[in-house]
Amino acid sequence: MNHVVLTGDRPTGPLHLGHYFGTLANRVALQDVHPMYVLVADYQVITDRDLPGAIQRNIATLLLDYLAIGLDPAKVTIFQHSAIPELNQLLLPFLSLVSVAELGRNPTVKDEIAHSTQQAVNGLMFTYPVHQAADILFCKGTLVPVGKDQLPHVEVTRLVARRFNERYGPVFPVPEAMMGAQPLLKGLDGGKMSKSRGNAVALSATEDETAALIRGARTDADRLITFDETNRPEVSNLLTLAGLCLGRQPESIADEIGNGGAAALKRLVTEAVNEFLRPIRRRRREYSEADARQVLSDGNERARERAIVTLGEVRAAMGF
Ligand code: TRP
Repeated sequence: MNHVVLTGDRPTGPLHLGHYFGTLANRVALQDVHPMYVLVADYQVITDRDLPGAIQRNIATLLLDYLAIGLDPAKVTIFQHSAIPELNQLLLPFLSLVSVAELGRNPTVKDEIAHSTQQAVNGLMFTYPVHQAADILFCKGTLVPVGKDQLPHVEVTRLVARRFNERYGPVFPVPEAMMGAQPLLKGLDGGKMSKSRGNAVALSATEDETAALIRGARTDADRLITFDETNRPEVSNLLTLAGLCLGRQPESIADEIGNGGAAALKRLVTEAVNEFLRPIRRRRREYSEADARQVLSDGNERARERAIVTLGEVRAAMGF
């Protein structure tokens, strides 16, 4: 199958190990197999907050994260919403294809509203999944590597593609989501891994910052280290993390540590993570922010050419 891969991230802060094992590693593998677009979803930042914040800084960080993990700008088109007017214009016809009731039923949107700290829910919160359909369909994307929370949005995209084709004739492929096979990594405090909770190792963290974070990780008092996700979630999460970094089974790492206790476990995890991140950190130092900006502006140019063609087809199909 000849896929076109599209995925992306909101530029809200540094990517961390949860992102890496959840989806980034997958992207690096896919770039050698299929044409791929990676979106810096800058307009999506203002769904759950009033202001874009340190947007330029966050975009630069995200780009350096992408380059550090080995996304190759010669193979991948890296681009941003705000530079592609024709992509954003697709939102208008697409919005006419979904009902207000459907917008309100999206489980991820509901969850984000429940966790929002905003005074009022804005209209973009309800409509950004349709904008995401424009992200995917402007390049006729067929494969969308995402985490579980994004599945409802891919469903919206499939609905938009199908309805557009039914009403106006065949223009769009109906894309599929692709989920990573990796186990879900929790944060170092046992909660959901998130940069805002300070429980995640950022890909850009130094060795010392990494060591300090892991030293502070929650464990338990049992000196015998065992892999038992139900009864010992924190210890097991650390073993999972070490296992992912070392390419080993967490059980075998637990056996190796045996009676060494939390201190030995943390020492092993710290070494495993720092060893794993070494080439990523090295590559990051090879790029300047000016390089990163150049990568984005080249990608924007390519993405825009693609968007112009698709918008033309959409307008023609609709009779505009
Ligand atoms: N909503 C995604 C996230 O928060 C980012 C995103 C925007 C995206 N547009 C996309 C992901 C299109 C996949 C496809 O992570």
